[in-house]
Amino acid sequence: MSKSILIHENGGPEKMKFEEVEVGKPGPGQVKLRHTAIGLNFIDVYTRSGLYQTPMPNAVGREAAGVIVEVGPRVKGFKKGDRVAYCGVLGAYCQERLMGVDQLVKVPTGVSDEQAAAIMLKGMTTEYLVDRTAKAWLKKGDTVLFHAAAGGVGLLFGQWAKARGYKVIGTTSSPEKAALAKKNGYKWVIDYTKQDIVAEVKKITKNKGVPVVFDGVGKDTWAASLDCLQPRGLMVSFGNASGAVAPIPLGILNTKGSLYVTRPSLFAYTSTRADLEASARSLFKMVKSGKVKISIDQHYPLAEAAQAHIDLESRKTTGQTVLVP
Ligand SMILES: NC(=O)c1ccc[n+]([C@@H]2O[C@H](COP(=O)([O-])OP(=O)(O)OC[C@H]3O[C@@H](n4cnc5c(N)ncnc54)[C@H](OP(=O)(O)O)[C@@H]3O)[C@@H](O)[C@H]2O)c1
Repeated sequence: MSKSILIHENGGPEKMKFEEVEVGKPGPGQVKLRHTAIGLNFIDVYTRSGLYQTPMPNAVGREAAGVIVEVGPRVKGFKKGDRVAYCGVLGAYCQERLMGVDQLVKVPTGVSDEQAAAIMLKGMTTEYLVDRTAKAWLKKGDTVLFHAAAGGVGLLFGQWAKARGYKVIGTTSSPEKAALAKKNGYKWVIDYTKQDIVAEVKKITKNKGVPVVFDGVGKDTWAASLDCLQPRGLMVSFGNASGAVAPIPLGILNTKGSLYVTRPSLFAYTSTRADLEASARSLFKMVKSGKVKISIDQHYPLAEAAQAHIDLESRKTTGQTVLVP
């Protein structure tokens, strides 16, 4: 038996119950994992609220690190005692679970379980956003815009983009968060609760605008994001922290300067084993090189996952958050 957070229906944080579950034995190609740290992500809020539909009941999270405690038949490349991590597979808010090894990666020495649990999803997202989605739009020295700079993806993004030679403008909602963003690679930070995003970006870029905007805030920033782009710029709309973006008339991309828009997801960028391994390798290399530093700003016991959701949704968290099983 293992303890797990479960939702039986969509709704507020109070829908997450801490329950006892039977884990069972690993089937072919599976292992049993004992989680040592579980990552908190905004996608967990969408899963709980129902913005993203999932089968019920489920254990909400999609990212964790742990140790293999039992190996099922026909498993190759993994053994009992291996330290592993994963992301993307629903059901992470629990102490123990069964897991297909095709989704696991080994955590290298020099990276702690907590760090791996905190960055698999957000760090591999950063990898694909900077090094793949926007690559064709960017050259060293270019300036880009990233919303919610002091958040989980935000703090990784600022460091990663700086390491690749880009200058980054961030947005955030308080002076404390702005100071944190500046320590994590952002050259300029706009307080989008007080300042006009477009006017500030135009000021910083001497009226040129930016070639790429990375927007995980969604509804509230969509319109300003488009207005910050140079002609033929790329709008990367990768999340909905403030709500989903309403359907847009395609003609707007014409009138605002032949813009490009993409709505990417990590799962499409790691859908083959080769892509998953390459992305994880790149992430761990960045962390071990010291170019991207990981700080875990919040810890919650797994049983208090509801409080973690309340804090995440009310913009109280910064950087990475880990649930302790
Ligand atoms: N597509 C993908 O592959 C992918 C993968 C991972 C994450 N994401 C997306 O990336 C974004 C960031 O994820 P994260 O887990 O790192 O979360 P996070 O950035 O730590 O938290 C969200 C942040 O969004 C900002 N925000 C602005 N308006 C908000 C509102 N109305 N309610 C709540 N927050 C608001 C807040 O920062 P301020 O207080 O500074 O405004 C808040 O801290 C999310 O949209 C997530 O869905 C997408």
